[in-house]
Amino acid sequence: MSSTRTLIRGGLVITAAEETHADVLIEDGRIAALAAHGSDAAGAWTADRIIDAGGKYVVPGGVDGHTHMEMPFGGTFASDTFETGTRAAAWGGTTTIVDFAVQSVGHSLREGLDAWYAKADGNCAIDYGFHMILSDVTERSLKEMDRLVEEGITSFKLFMAYPGVFYSDDGRILRAMQRAAGNGGLIMMHAENGIAIDVLVEQALAAGHSDPRYHGEVRRALLEAEATHRAIQLARVAGSPLYVVHVSAQEAVAELTAARDLGLPVFGETCPQYLFLSTDDLARPGFEGAKYVCSTPLRPANHQEALWRGLRGNDLQVVSTDHCPFCFTGQKELGRGDFSKIPNGLPGVEHRMDLLHQAVVDGHIGRRRWIEIACAAPARMFGLYPRKGTIAPGADADIVLYDPHAEQVISAETHHMNVDYSVYEGRRITGQVETVLSRGEVVIDRRTYTGRAGHGQYIARATCQYL
Ligand code: URP
Ligand code: ZN
Ligand code: ZN
Ligand code: ZN
Repeated sequence: MSSTRTLIRGGLVITAAEETHADVLIEDGRIAALAAHGSDAAGAWTADRIIDAGGKYVVPGGVDGHTHMEMPFGGTFASDTFETGTRAAAWGGTTTIVDFAVQSVGHSLREGLDAWYAKADGNCAIDYGFHMILSDVTERSLKEMDRLVEEGITSFKLFMAYPGVFYSDDGRILRAMQRAAGNGGLIMMHAENGIAIDVLVEQALAAGHSDPRYHGEVRRALLEAEATHRAIQLARVAGSPLYVVHVSAQEAVAELTAARDLGLPVFGETCPQYLFLSTDDLARPGFEGAKYVCSTPLRPANHQEALWRGLRGNDLQVVSTDHCPFCFTGQKELGRGDFSKIPNGLPGVEHRMDLLHQAVVDGHIGRRRWIEIACAAPARMFGLYPRKGTIAPGADADIVLYDPHAEQVISAETHHMNVDYSVYEGRRITGQVETVLSRGEVVIDRRTYTGRAGHGQYIARATCQYL
């Protein structure tokens, strides 16, 4: 194999740890070396391709640790396939996703996992790994967890919500946590008290409260906090680490903060929708609120400050998208007249890096924290570091040239996700992805897509490196 060398010259290289004006040499898909821009060492480098990064940030490709391509939900499927969803991710500067393979009740983990391997194989524009959703914690699935960890599926999502679908009771949760404590797996928790929520859903519908905004009202913040607290205590009893997904309520953040103050290995993720959107969106008239139905739900805007504080103070470690798009026409519309039938989930895989850059511009977080929560921390959390999540010799050359001064307006007219609306329609963003490399291959070249389905490779993950 002939070696190809690419040189990225003159940009500001930003990692979670430092910012330096450096040139980056790429050889055979990996970062070979960094050297100060203008240094003799960098000046002596030759390359087949030179990319001028003057005036740009040079940052690690984003790692989105929570996506649901083609996810079955509420009698339909998330509208992005692995092909369309990973292409949209690339457009937005994300070069790795960790998606969720789903175990169906009555079936093995293996069956679910093999189905997800088949959906993704040959279709992805960027690299990908899998978590496993445990819907049926039995003796057999517990044993299978050990094998999956060895195979690179090192994290398992459990649901305290959705009785009759994904829900696990406390006994099953405890058993899965005990197993993870033994095999090194990371338990990811959807923390909402689904049993209590279903009572409130039934009562709301009986009272004629069928609009999308009631989705937010019945999924009370206290029921997120209660489940978060319970999950933390169960993890303590089991002696396992815990990662709480899609945290939205300030009361849930308080539970994570209390646990971390005790030194417990408890981690939290939030998503851009909870940082930038609110129950005001869920209450939009004329059923438009359905576009904003996800679980945990959007909260009143006064919860956002607790999330930003959590991200600054490391009580929340990761921002993922929970990308789970459903078209308004034909999919979200399934819930007209009954909010509980609206498929849960929002599109977002394309805009995470941009929205978090906007948070830098707005002063919520600093530049290195942007890279930490979007790249480095998810890579370490999910056993991908240092191959992913940083710019350092030996790492995969997953690199984004980011123009911090470009102005853009987010719109469904111009986005690349396979969904007919944007939850961020009309939002102005300062900053834009310009060029993206995935393992040294340019997949976005100055805002033209040059990648291909099938370039993305499956990544077997190590166990959590954040502990
Ligand atoms: O509403 C959401 N978040 N849909 C995706 C499934 C989940 O619970 O993560
Ligand atoms: Zn969830
Ligand atoms: Zn999710
Ligand atoms: Zn979710």
